[in-house]
Amino acid sequence: MNQTQSVEPIVRMENISKRFPGVIANESVDLTLMQGEVLALLGENGAGKSTLMNMLAGLYRPDSGSIHIRGTHANIQSPQDSMALGIGMVHQEFMLVGNMTVAENIVLGMKDLPFVPDIDSINARIIELSDRYGLKVDPQAVIHDLSVGEQQRVEILKLVYRGADILILDEPTAVLTPGESHELNNIVKIMLSEGKSAIFITHKMDEVIEFSDKVQVLRRGKTVNICNTADVTPKDLANMMVGRDVLFSLDRCPYNPGGVKLKVEQVTVNNPLGGRPLLDDVSLEIHRGEILGIAGVAGNGQQQLAEVITGLVRCDRGNIYIDGMDKTNNTPLSFIKAGVSHIPADRGAMGIVGDMSVGENLAMKKYRTKEISKGVVIKKNFLRMFADKLIDTFSIKTPDQGTSVKYLSGGNIQKTILAREIDSCGGILIAVYPSRGLDVGATEAVRQNIIAQRDQGNAVLLVSEELEELQMVADRIAVMFEGKIMGTRNVKDTNTEELGLMMAGAVSRGA
Ligand SMILES: Nc1ncnc2c1ncn2[C@@H]1O[C@H](COP(=O)(O)OP(=O)(O)OP(=O)(O)O)[C@@H](O)[C@H]1O
Ligand SMILES: [Mg+2]
Repeated sequence: MNQTQSVEPIVRMENISKRFPGVIANESVDLTLMQGEVLALLGENGAGKSTLMNMLAGLYRPDSGSIHIRGTHANIQSPQDSMALGIGMVHQEFMLVGNMTVAENIVLGMKDLPFVPDIDSINARIIELSDRYGLKVDPQAVIHDLSVGEQQRVEILKLVYRGADILILDEPTAVLTPGESHELNNIVKIMLSEGKSAIFITHKMDEVIEFSDKVQVLRRGKTVNICNTADVTPKDLANMMVGRDVLFSLDRCPYNPGGVKLKVEQVTVNNPLGGRPLLDDVSLEIHRGEILGIAGVAGNGQQQLAEVITGLVRCDRGNIYIDGMDKTNNTPLSFIKAGVSHIPADRGAMGIVGDMSVGENLAMKKYRTKEISKGVVIKKNFLRMFADKLIDTFSIKTPDQGTSVKYLSGGNIQKTILAREIDSCGGILIAVYPSRGLDVGATEAVRQNIIAQRDQGNAVLLVSEELEELQMVADRIAVMFEGKIMGTRNVKDTNTEELGLMMAGAVSRGA
């Protein structure tokens, strides 16, 4: 490397602007990344972070401005161009093909692949890289059999296989368990120690502090701050992002639960693939005016619990009662009619219809109600006012309610689901990881909204991996481990240490 290259930034974006219909996603943004540096790119949901990075990755082209890579002007027109420059991006939404193997996904779309690829040498190289970075990836595994954490590692492997040395990670830890996030962070550290450079987007302030050298904050498409990580606190960062102080404490009425609203009695769901049951003799009650938090490392039955209570999965044993009425194995529609709302863990598959408009997605559960439909006639004016009200209340950033949901930023898609489900809650709200992918301001707002549901007398089940969130929001916490409830505690009578032990399966079923 000669003298000029070593002082020249590895990435220099200058005066970049990008518009979409009705939105200025980026306006005159400058960004520089030095060799070996980690830049954290922060900002509210919809601030323009993914858009800016998608221009480096060749998915979008800037309307104006220029990009220099290693000091040379780069005309990035396609993902292949970007890859050829050594840029690799892990996208906010995974881009793997579910019914193909790891190896097939890794070489998919590579330009210089021979007509008949040498599978053995591809597999050997994957295994070698997987070992070097501790990725534990089997080249022959089919993607849809892998957990999200494993899929994330395949995305990373794809980048290193293709020789990327400028890594762009768009909210890589948003869908990971704390353990998986920790592993991912270690992998990235190995890559950095080899001299690679990285830009990473996250809403988790502790990761910013731990990882990055430099922080750049976007607000409404423009840069509002660039600083050294060492000079700022998480509170400063939250403030820079939303332009005000974030409270980190919430208002609530005193805990005064009513009668039992939802009762789950000795429910077991067998694993169709064999092995231990997904839900193993689970019993719990949620009262009116109460938030029951479910703690545990993801994959210990939380999702199945939410799914049996919403009629999406059948119980093999046990019963579910709502208001004392047996609802066991009723249809999802019957659960909706009984007043159950559901914020699902897998939003892509279950929460949203991307090609439909924001307004239609918001109203999806209202069509059957008298407010909106009269026979087959839909009351369009009411529908419009209804959607506008939710867009406003939940601060959903969209040009208008007619925009297709797929064009919204990740966090704003999430807010659309939250708005629909929280608004339509008719007594029971099942919220699974509701604050995933939300910025700090929106996280605060959604927690406040969940508490408001409880204050209005609804029964809430809140599944979260963040003990801090559960301790802040829930009244009682039940801990799940390997499909079982390890114990339930009043928030006031427990602490992080006890809950942590229960999460690891170390405490027998008690109180
Ligand atoms: N393909 C597209 N078509 C239309 N609008 C788009 C498109 N992609 C992004 N936008 C808009 O550009 C703006 C910035 O979106 P972007 O995805 O960059 O936000 P973000 O900062 O990544 O937010 P988040 O934290 O929610 O992921 C948003 O208003 C979004 O709706
Ligand atoms: Mg984004």
